[in-house]
Amino acid sequence: MVHRSQGRATLGGKLSAVLVAAGSSVGLGNIWRFPYVVGENGGGAFLVIYVLCVLLFGLPIMLAEFSVGRASHRNAVGAYRKLDRRWKFLGYNGVLAAFLILGFYFVVSGWTAEYMVQSVTGGLAHCTAPEQYAAFFEGFIAHPWRPLVYTGLFILATHVIIAMGVQKGIERSSKLLMPLLLVVLLALAVHSLLMPGGGEGLRFLFRPDFSKVTPATVLVAMGQAFFSLSIGLGTMVTYASYFKPETDLRKTAFNVTLLDTLVAVLAGVVIFPAVFSVGIAPTSGPSLVFITLPGIFNGMPLSMVWSTVFFLLLVIAALTSTLSLHEVLTAYMQEEWGLSRRRAAWTTTAATAALGALASLSLGVLGGWKICGLNIFDSLDYLTANILLPAGGFVTCIFVGWFMDRRKFEAQITNNGAFRAWFFVALRWLLRYFCPVVLLLMFLDNLKVFH
Ligand code: PFF
Repeated sequence: MVHRSQGRATLGGKLSAVLVAAGSSVGLGNIWRFPYVVGENGGGAFLVIYVLCVLLFGLPIMLAEFSVGRASHRNAVGAYRKLDRRWKFLGYNGVLAAFLILGFYFVVSGWTAEYMVQSVTGGLAHCTAPEQYAAFFEGFIAHPWRPLVYTGLFILATHVIIAMGVQKGIERSSKLLMPLLLVVLLALAVHSLLMPGGGEGLRFLFRPDFSKVTPATVLVAMGQAFFSLSIGLGTMVTYASYFKPETDLRKTAFNVTLLDTLVAVLAGVVIFPAVFSVGIAPTSGPSLVFITLPGIFNGMPLSMVWSTVFFLLLVIAALTSTLSLHEVLTAYMQEEWGLSRRRAAWTTTAATAALGALASLSLGVLGGWKICGLNIFDSLDYLTANILLPAGGFVTCIFVGWFMDRRKFEAQITNNGAFRAWFFVALRWLLRYFCPVVLLLMFLDNLKVFH
């Protein structure tokens, strides 16, 4: 086996670390998945539980992954192997999860590109009634080749940036795209807040009604937090392996989680007032963004502009996330298999394109192929967000809390003693006891052990 890690890239500075990691976290999970999950799980009460999950699980696990990455300067598999060989399976879990997520994530990313193009060319303007939007969406995703073209284009865009390298590709594009994303999102939020009758949407998002909360709600919130923060699969390990020694991991993790949560909440602020202002139920599921919203945009002045801008936002968010998933696989193949970066990038691209094609076709012609009753697309989503990521997060807690050399971990968190240690003590306690115990209980509950 070849292990290549000399001459690795390093990211520019503090801001680069935050923007690159936030680029991974902020994605379709925030703008497409978060609003419909909130809608399906009772609004404000879910939001409170979600924020608790982010603070108590998301932040500590992100810090654990950052430490593993920067302590080893390796890809996900190489990192765990370097720190303790017995734990390299955790890296493989991450590589597998990144591959499976890309399988369905590229497909949804392709849809966002198609909707952006349709907004510009006025293709959506033909629809008037809600059923027409639904028919447009369902006709498109089930089409034998159209979604494949857009998914293919998206994969190619990701490939080109990855092939340019960590600094020229990932770092440069994140520095450009993340600020742009924030500006666009703020403009949309202001626009949405000014809409008549939107107050009810905000009430739905912010007023908690705990009567809707069940143990299943907590599991969904946890899965959403893991997915949204990109933790549990080695993305943050891989990215942190490019961080500088002086980067403050605590601040970086805090800023990334804050940005990610802010973007999710702002996406809710964009979407719910709009949904309520036209009297549509907020529980319309994954199609909320692709069916409900275009209809709402169409009723507005300058509809084409708002709809184009919204789907541009989704395209940007998706791209900075697919980059990070692609990088997990590319860095792995480059360092563990000894491939050149070009070869590693092409291999990743080819493999994910094949899986993406299957996932896309499973919404149409391959709809009969089921795994445990779910089509390929849905099973990839379910398996990763609800099983592989929380399981990866659980094992990461056990490894970093109990098995990683305490001094090595502390050196990462305090930058070799440059910062005070109380934070480290609290963090280690969360990783050793609180997070694994609660994660385990939730898993068992999900398997109906207590029923
Ligand atoms: N965090 C991304 C989102 O919210 O869309 C999705 C994602 C990217 C998950 C990278 C996992 C990952 F490693």
